[in-house]
Amino acid sequence: MSADAALKTPLAFDPLKVRAEFPILAREVYGKPLVYLDNAASAQKPEAVLEALRRGYAEEYANVHRGLHFLSNRSTERYEAARASIARFLNAERAEEIIFTSGSTDALNLVASSWAEPRIKAGDEIVLTILEHHSNIVPWHYLRERHGAVLKWAPIHDDGSLDMEAFEKLLTDRTKLVAITHMSNALGTILPAKELIAMAHARGIPVLLDGSQGAVHLRPDVRDLDVDFYAITGHKLYGPSGIGALYAKREHLDAMRPYRGGGEMIREVTMETVTYADPPHRFEAGTPPIVQAIGLGAALDWMMALDWPAAQAHEADLIAYAHERFGQFNWLHPLGTTAEKGAILSFTMDGAHPHDISTFIDRQGVAVRAGHHCAQPLMDRYDVPATTRASFALYNTREDVDRLMDALLKCRELFA
Ligand SMILES: Cc1ncc(COP(=O)(O)O)c(C=O)c1O
Repeated sequence: MSADAALKTPLAFDPLKVRAEFPILAREVYGKPLVYLDNAASAQKPEAVLEALRRGYAEEYANVHRGLHFLSNRSTERYEAARASIARFLNAERAEEIIFTSGSTDALNLVASSWAEPRIKAGDEIVLTILEHHSNIVPWHYLRERHGAVLKWAPIHDDGSLDMEAFEKLLTDRTKLVAITHMSNALGTILPAKELIAMAHARGIPVLLDGSQGAVHLRPDVRDLDVDFYAITGHKLYGPSGIGALYAKREHLDAMRPYRGGGEMIREVTMETVTYADPPHRFEAGTPPIVQAIGLGAALDWMMALDWPAAQAHEADLIAYAHERFGQFNWLHPLGTTAEKGAILSFTMDGAHPHDISTFIDRQGVAVRAGHHCAQPLMDRYDVPATTRASFALYNTREDVDRLMDALLKCRELFA
């Protein structure tokens, strides 16, 4: 939903109730109430997740898939139930289409290593956008360096929206994969994923979506999108760090070689041979992050219990309000102003470097991020070394936006 439409939508979502479920948000920093606006880097955790982690270790802990004892069976049940929660969250057809990974970086590397590497020859093309996070760039650079793959970059317009015509022109009979973000972590731009996937599929090209941000704000439906691969990361989804997942269509998983070798991913090992387990276990070597996976399941169950259209309207209201407030000052310059954007506001400010801004407003209790946001090609596109980024979550309020603005006004007094 565009920000304009959201402003007209009555809000039936109570962010204060949601906020009360996050104990850390009650704390102060430097004697000031915390305003946490660094959610695109990592979100805070609700009680439901903290309790799942506590129970996972305090009451139900053992290794999974190995034991014939009570606790091992219990932790295996919880671990597999978390996989089922992820499948429900993404609307995957089967839980077997969900591979646990350590995060989206790991999920993207899994696709590059197990699916793409054996299929890529010198001159084959991979289409990315200029919006990508380094996690969805560097694995493809590996294929460029090691196998002669050619990376093609779809450009954006000045407002941060994708140049669709240019994107379509990049799709050729050499294109082996489209690997693009669902939502930019640096600008908040939401890509018209369904349309882009249809364009690629019309030419027989599979599509990977980096859903690190998209899954947090858009409630993706992998079947409706008809996407081939979708990567998510737990710590941005109100869950633990060290856990994430890859959704892949079963036909791809069946055809993919294993990722890492080790215990739990084999059918049989002899001195001369090895055969591999079926997906998803083929891709999950070794002892997994058991309790983190259970925590991610709890986070997604928590998200699925929310009134999602109202929650999305709340986030759209926040970003529209933030842009409205920023528009009052000609010394603030937001990057990424397309209406099709999520609750992320990247900006530069006359007279102050992003690192100075973030350090200064941190002392006012306002946590934001400054830097290139692991999106250096995008920074080059705008000819800036860095931006300051305020990124919003379900528990943020208009008051948080006002506290950000007050802090920026003080910062302006100092640096102007
Ligand atoms: C768009 C995007 N892709 C990938 C990642 C990498 O996620 P992780 O570090 O959790 O693997 C991030 C994290 O900032 C991101 O925002």
